[in-house]
Amino acid sequence: AGPCDIYNAGGYPCVAAHSTTRSLLNSYNGPLYQVTRGSDGKSTNIYPLSTGGVANAATQDSFCKLTTCLITVIYDQSGKGNDLSAAPSGGAASGPVSGGYDFVASAIGARVKVGGHEAYGVFTTLATGYRRDNTNGIATGNQPEGIYAVVDGTHYNGNCCWDYGNAETNNRDNGATHMEALYFGSARGTAAGTGNGPWIQADLENGLFAGNQSGSVNPNSPSINYRFTTGIVKGAQSNLWSIRGGNAQSGSLSTFFRGPRPAGYYPMNKEGAIILGIGGDNSDGAQGTFYEGVMTTGFPSDEVENQVQANIVAAGYATTNEYSGPALTVGSAVSLQASGLSGQQYIGHNGSSVSIMPVSSSSSETQKQDVTFTVRSGNNGHCFSFEAVNSPGSFIRHYAYQLYVDNSDNQQRSPSTFADDSTFCPEPGFTGSGSAFRSWSYPTRFFRRVSDGDVYIGTQGGPFAWDSATNFVQQATFTARNGLA
Ligand code: AHR
Repeated sequence: AGPCDIYNAGGYPCVAAHSTTRSLLNSYNGPLYQVTRGSDGKSTNIYPLSTGGVANAATQDSFCKLTTCLITVIYDQSGKGNDLSAAPSGGAASGPVSGGYDFVASAIGARVKVGGHEAYGVFTTLATGYRRDNTNGIATGNQPEGIYAVVDGTHYNGNCCWDYGNAETNNRDNGATHMEALYFGSARGTAAGTGNGPWIQADLENGLFAGNQSGSVNPNSPSINYRFTTGIVKGAQSNLWSIRGGNAQSGSLSTFFRGPRPAGYYPMNKEGAIILGIGGDNSDGAQGTFYEGVMTTGFPSDEVENQVQANIVAAGYATTNEYSGPALTVGSAVSLQASGLSGQQYIGHNGSSVSIMPVSSSSSETQKQDVTFTVRSGNNGHCFSFEAVNSPGSFIRHYAYQLYVDNSDNQQRSPSTFADDSTFCPEPGFTGSGSAFRSWSYPTRFFRRVSDGDVYIGTQGGPFAWDSATNFVQQATFTARNGLA
């Protein structure tokens, strides 16, 4: 059985069921998600390996070979047709994509194993989100609903708002009671939990709540950051709602809050749109990773949710290799040679500026050092980072999509942002040889030189000058050579 079989049997039918990793119903054999590739703009659907099974990631791998892929649709498995796609512009923010749409997620940003099979989650970064305003069967007004999601408890931030759940149908902040979504992250809400977060909170609009006492901490809502975290938010027809959570890899759920709604939040005025990765008004500064989640009608019993948690644990989420390109040796010195340029040209730096530099065996030692980097384990614990040999402690990092060599004291943003933005994952080179260096924190984007020799993180088709589809294949492919210095 899947989570929706359990909810359905319990009398709380799933009205939305989203997952890129597995079927959430025993009988589901439709598409899980759609990917769209950069090379020719074509799309394909990714199905389960078998009815009720795990995603067939190999079909994505072959469709997306030597190009980029985005998750453009996350299909609703409940039968209600509540598919998610790029979120439109909202009251708080307009997305960067043409028409004001938000970015959508990379298809390879969240590699994972489920039941021993490779699969992909939905890694959303800033200005990235999914939405459906015109829904079918989702709770409105004061109707009861249940929500659960499995997230990466280590990928979050303190910005508004990484949500999954019920929001406004006009993409605007329509005031308290107009939302009921699961929030995950370290934004200190109107009623936060203990410690520094992240917390599972309810986004009820104009407020994130880990409890019902505005301005206070709910002592029963802990910071929770299991690599795979289950979060639950549910609201009854009566003035009752609840927040629960646990480790999606083992054990049971704990109840972090159960009681009346915060003052001013009853009765509810839910509108029934569905959001993922953004706030109700398209506030788009948050980041997070989604593996699966559902919305039900009715107020699911704790007992039924406990069975869903057991089902999630049994599904067997586990980590896997985060990259698929040529491995790098930590501690070795490398020079990253650009493809498609005459002579030998490498990614180099002059102080904090990064550009493509011609360097050969007859160049000076200083020039050779400028293009030589020591491979380090990724600064945020994932993949790799590149430390300048002539500037220990300084690493290649992106800032406003451009590459710089910078250190965490001299950085332009917060420490965790430095660690994330100086971490890169090698993928196979787009030309068919060498490597492409994917930004860990913006996984749709790869090291890319542009015509003036500057280096950005770019995509194969996108809104910025460094996202042109033309010449992407050569410009985003590099070969890691032994360090010249
Ligand atoms: O409630 C928190 C956020 O406030 C909502 O997600 C958003 O719509 C508003 O900005």
